[in-house]
Amino acid sequence: MHDGHHAVLAGLGAWLPPRVVDNDDLAQHLNTSDEWIRARTGIGERRIADPDVSTVDMAVAAGRNALRSAGSDAIDAVVLATATPDYLCPASAPQVASGLGLSGVAAFDVNAVCSGFIYALATAAGLIAGGVAGRVLVVGADAFSRYCDPADRTTVPIFGDGAGAVVLRAGTADEPGALGPFDLHSEGENAGLLIVPAGGAKQRQSADPHDHYLTMQGTAVFRHACARMAESARAVLERSGLGVGDVDRFVGHQANIRILQATAKQLGMPNDRVVANIERVGNTSAASIPLALADACDDGELQPGHRVLLTAFGAGLTWGSTLLTWPDVKPGGEA
Ligand code: COA
Repeated sequence: MHDGHHAVLAGLGAWLPPRVVDNDDLAQHLNTSDEWIRARTGIGERRIADPDVSTVDMAVAAGRNALRSAGSDAIDAVVLATATPDYLCPASAPQVASGLGLSGVAAFDVNAVCSGFIYALATAAGLIAGGVAGRVLVVGADAFSRYCDPADRTTVPIFGDGAGAVVLRAGTADEPGALGPFDLHSEGENAGLLIVPAGGAKQRQSADPHDHYLTMQGTAVFRHACARMAESARAVLERSGLGVGDVDRFVGHQANIRILQATAKQLGMPNDRVVANIERVGNTSAASIPLALADACDDGELQPGHRVLLTAFGAGLTWGSTLLTWPDVKPGGEA
């Protein structure tokens, strides 16, 4: 029956580091406050990975939960969305695959920063459509706390660490869980708005240690995010012949509650359709959308049959969207 070449969501998993850092904790060593962070971002606390936990470790844990949710370890390819890989070279996905006992399968990283999960879904859907793979594990994992200057109050409060994953299988376009269409974009001329200037091939090392950390022009990023997320959401709906009123749940990249609300307002979407877990996790970059999906499933906000709009925006700049009808899938938990 499921012999098509359309990507269908068949499993979901999440993993968060246990260490909670709340806004008051940050205010002890940064010139900030719980009031400022909550009012400007909607973030109350975030999870921070301990020094011995890497992006690969988080990705393996989330991947394992997604495989449990799917009820099968059969996987042909692992696509890891991350901008904070364990090493600049090689990619982290092969280590995620071997950590899951999947050594031998195709495995590679996709770096579209906070849009990475949507880009990785599209990539995996392409592998399935092309007959290259029948079942793909897509993981979004980031440890942006490692890239934030601990003394920088403009980035530290915003980012948290975590991982989320889904299993995609080959199926048909008309069944629940079928993904698509996709809308993907980029704007490299604005790369400097959100950048780690040093460490890459252009500048391996800088005399200024700040260049090895993330720098962000927050207000400009905010404006681009609101405009592009709304634009992309409209584009993917239009391509599907749907309207905003057909969307039951909007799961947008959790960068700032004000960005999510402004996007919903531009779309004319009521706030009760907007899924938000940013208060508890902050901006987890590529992990953001699968973590929000898992939370929404756990608290009953997301139900089978809901039409879900996924939209992300991130450094690059990159942005994109896709749609699906939520299948009968629940997040897999620890054994
Ligand atoms: N605590 C207290 N004050 C802070 C602060 C903090 N953590 N960070 C900045 N401020 C101060 C600024 O210095 C500034 O002070 P000034 O007016 O005296 O110059 C003031 O707060 C306002 O700063 P501004 O940057 O204009 O605030 P903002 O309303 O734009 O909010 C962000 C800042 C970062 C929350 C907001 O721009 C944002 O969310 N941008 C998008 C970031 C993002 O989503 N990045 C990831 C994209 S995937």
